[in-house]
Amino acid sequence: MKILKAFLFFFVIQLQAQQGGMWIPSLLQGMNEKEMKNLGMKMSVKDIYDVNQSSLKDAVPHFNGGCTSEVISSKGLILTNHHCGFDAIQNHSTVEHDYLTNGFWAYKMDEELPNENLVVTFIVRIEDVTTKVLEGTSNLTSEAEKQKKIQDNISALSVSLPKEAWQENKIRTFFEGNQYMLFITETFNDVRLVGAPPSSIGKFGNDTDNWVWPRHTGDFSLFRIYADKNNHPASYSKDNIPYTPKHFLPISLDGVAEDDFTMVFGYPGKTNEYLPAVAIAQIANELNPAKIEIRDHALKVADGFMRKDNAIKIQYASKYASIANYWKKWIGETQGLKKSDAVTIKKNQEIAFQEKVLKAGKQAEYGHLLSDFEKDYTEIAPYALARDYFTEVALRNTELLSVGFKLYQLEQVYNSKGDQAFTDRKNNLIAGLADFYKDFNPTVDEKVFEQLIDLYATKVPKEFLPTNLSNINATHLATEIYSQSKLVDYKSLKELLSGDSKTVLTHLNEDKGFLLIKGMSDKFLKEVAPKYEEINLRITALQRTYMKAQLELNKDTRIFPDANSTLRVTYGKIKGYAPKDATLYTPITYLDGVMEKYIPSDYEFDVPTKLIDLYKTKNYGVYGENGKMPVCFIATNHTTGGNSGSPAIDAKGNLIGLNFDRVWEGTMSDIYYDPSICRNIMVDARYILFIIDKFAGAKNIIDELKLVHPKK
Ligand code: ARG
Ligand code: ASP
Repeated sequence: MKILKAFLFFFVIQLQAQQGGMWIPSLLQGMNEKEMKNLGMKMSVKDIYDVNQSSLKDAVPHFNGGCTSEVISSKGLILTNHHCGFDAIQNHSTVEHDYLTNGFWAYKMDEELPNENLVVTFIVRIEDVTTKVLEGTSNLTSEAEKQKKIQDNISALSVSLPKEAWQENKIRTFFEGNQYMLFITETFNDVRLVGAPPSSIGKFGNDTDNWVWPRHTGDFSLFRIYADKNNHPASYSKDNIPYTPKHFLPISLDGVAEDDFTMVFGYPGKTNEYLPAVAIAQIANELNPAKIEIRDHALKVADGFMRKDNAIKIQYASKYASIANYWKKWIGETQGLKKSDAVTIKKNQEIAFQEKVLKAGKQAEYGHLLSDFEKDYTEIAPYALARDYFTEVALRNTELLSVGFKLYQLEQVYNSKGDQAFTDRKNNLIAGLADFYKDFNPTVDEKVFEQLIDLYATKVPKEFLPTNLSNINATHLATEIYSQSKLVDYKSLKELLSGDSKTVLTHLNEDKGFLLIKGMSDKFLKEVAPKYEEINLRITALQRTYMKAQLELNKDTRIFPDANSTLRVTYGKIKGYAPKDATLYTPITYLDGVMEKYIPSDYEFDVPTKLIDLYKTKNYGVYGENGKMPVCFIATNHTTGGNSGSPAIDAKGNLIGLNFDRVWEGTMSDIYYDPSICRNIMVDARYILFIIDKFAGAKNIIDELKLVHPKK
């Protein structure tokens, strides 16, 4: 009996230890399927992914390249996060029709709003093409040649492998170049906005609650895919009809309870789960702190203006949210890496790795890897830091400099490709910048510039600074540039770019703003980037071999490939967690919690009057549970950026929630996943239905859905 208990205990620990991972849906048969069933799954993995019959994967399109969505009706209705639909909602918003503040609902199909440049992509099938991609590379010795041959093979295969005319072949690498998979995809570009709650629901808690549990955000929005008469992708047309999906998700009205099986199906963007300890230390101690400091400053400035001026708030809402999002993530990640002592854990794993290498007699092949990592990461450190400063200050957070950089590239096009290429690029640029200037406010940007350029001038290693940034007075420089540069508004920019190439280039090189970014870019592109690339190429090659070694030496355990924006399955259970001593978080939040957080007319924690009324009268319809309205829940699914909008699916394939975030203590999961503390956050499907039905009165939408009772 004792032995049996000990065995069971060991077994449970094993299972828990194995939790985590983002798996390729076409390869779940075997150990994953077994584990999923142990966790409570009642489907077969063929219900999740199948080539010959419709399966869950047919209901899960990539949403505009960065998020996930799921089809929830036979008429192409899709659900994604509010923060994923945010740009579309913002684009349709004006001070008069402020859909961000008030929400938007189409009560008839012809009220749905078309969106330029919004696409969703379905996966038709997945195939392993490793052998084909690596053909002819085994006798190439130089890394650069090898990579070139691989790229050539990929380009050729993308054209030659069979597909329908309206489909695309995309080849992606897994395990850092150790495996290649082909995705045959279909991309739809007539995607219309159907509904979005007010931000006081869809973004409730805003940046204060972002990355945090307990959470109370109704982070969803609705769109519809339109297709041509043959149900194939087509550009926007009045004649397009709602898309008929191969599969759509029924929605469960039965909710979730602790320990229920859940699975999240979506497109995680990028993780780095197999970094050596030295790389993690660099992220936690050097790179993250630098990036956090830059964004601290940029965000404070924007926040000051947005609180005072509603027009600025609309202009900057989306940009602010996206800058704040990763700023906060890096803070949580850094703390989490330190608290979980990820560096020491990795170091111990590395000692074990060395022993395995020795035992397997693979010293010559793999024995040098860790010391090479050590050497290369030390060498890359100053370049990596300078690169982050350039990216964050010039390309990401100071808008005038980021436009200036595009003009700098324009000049490079002239130098390398001549007059015609210059004119083509120039015209594209002018057209493309119209949208940018719509949301640009030079007064805000000047203050951001003043702060960030000062950081740049003081923190970037001296040898990487251009002469026009030595001994600056940031305030003077800001005044000078923003009063004189033609980059501060669209009209003067168009003037600056008018005339033949010679004239334009002469004028550009008289502009103070242009000259500054030119100095910065020259320095960066000549003295930082090449060296960075050179070392980084070595690191990439090391990482590939390191990955290969781990796959080879750990044949008895399953290893999942890092996220790469391809479709993945992650699974687990609904579970609370203990974030710190004497604190235990339960896994479900309720509308009561929204009311506890309510701060009248606060921009983060206001609650719409209608919602307060529904709460007071407990008017929850079929969506409530024991007189309470569930709002969000957490589980042990291993997710990352890009999983937003992913369906949370129950044991039988029904939708139970919508993934949108992770908990604060677990934000380091992109680098180190700790199953005891990493949780993903989902909004309960019943809260979504309740908002659509009781709050918005959009019965038309409810009528399209298939609502089910899988637990009864
Ligand atoms: N942290 C979530 C994710 O990475 C939600 C971000 C949107 N919300 C926000 N307040 N910025 O996408
Ligand atoms: N909020 C993220 C997203 O937008 C999800 C995450 O990072 O957990 O994809």
